[in-house]
Amino acid sequence: MLVFTDKNKLASHISSIKEKGLSLGFVPTMGALHEGHLSLVKQALKNNDFLVVSIFVNPTQFDNPEDLKKYPRTLDNDVDLLKSVSKDVIIYAPTVDDIYDGTTKAQPFSFDGLEFEMEGRFRKGHFDGVGTIVKRLFEIVKPDNAYFGEKDFQQLTIIKKLVEKHNIPVNILGCKIHRESNGLAMSSRNVRLKPEYKKAAPFIYKTLKAAKQKFGTKSANKVTEWVTKQFADHDLLQLEYFIIADVKTLKTVKRKTKTKTYRAFIAVYADDIRLIDNIALN
Ligand code: PAJ
Repeated sequence: MLVFTDKNKLASHISSIKEKGLSLGFVPTMGALHEGHLSLVKQALKNNDFLVVSIFVNPTQFDNPEDLKKYPRTLDNDVDLLKSVSKDVIIYAPTVDDIYDGTTKAQPFSFDGLEFEMEGRFRKGHFDGVGTIVKRLFEIVKPDNAYFGEKDFQQLTIIKKLVEKHNIPVNILGCKIHRESNGLAMSSRNVRLKPEYKKAAPFIYKTLKAAKQKFGTKSANKVTEWVTKQFADHDLLQLEYFIIADVKTLKTVKRKTKTKTYRAFIAVYADDIRLIDNIALN
């Protein structure tokens, strides 16, 4: 198992792989790995000769310093988990200075408006931070295929746009949301949930599934009102947003059309922990 902390050493190791004409997969993460991350890793291992997994808690994508401070960092455990899947994974776990070269700043991006919806509205500058780090990682790793989870559907859409606008030669592949048996979408933040909130959190997916069923016969507005009411009546979970959006533009749907594809997106606070989830509607 190779663990690199230096981008130049990683890059020269990667060149030697690419010289042999082997395909390279890439899974960028912020660590605190769980089965959701591992599902991406397994898919990438199946379709590539080599795989790089990056583990880096990227400061520029956090709008909340407290969230950044409390974000779980479990590198040794992450390395063991990856080893349990395959001994051939190449890990890149840089320091902030290695990847940012002394200026820990996000570059401004335009993602044709995708960045102003949902997460972009509630987490200022978030997608500039994501765009900055993912673009840098792509430049260092130069993968053929990169894997992103539908758990962060807006991020996946924005990365596809980033690659298209900046002509980055990489295929972006989306992977299904991995859930706990109770339906809660796996997230690195779940380990911070206090027991009563952990017990309450599956309500999020339960409500998304009910919303999907209602969307068959009701308008997007009616479904949104219904979901808002479910959370208003809930003792522990606080709704930040629920939106039904067109998967292409991520804009809130006003009137549904049979030819378009929609998804419902939700962000909820469980105590001070922010959880997001989404579901395909048609
Ligand atoms: P992180 O939250 O660690 O997630 C890394 C990748 O795992 C993302 O593509 C995310 O969508 C995926 N993922 C997380 N939970 C998942 C689940 N339950 N099912 C399926 N996929 C899941 O997303 C980031 O890190 C960062 O923004 C990053 C892209 C690494 C840039 O810093």
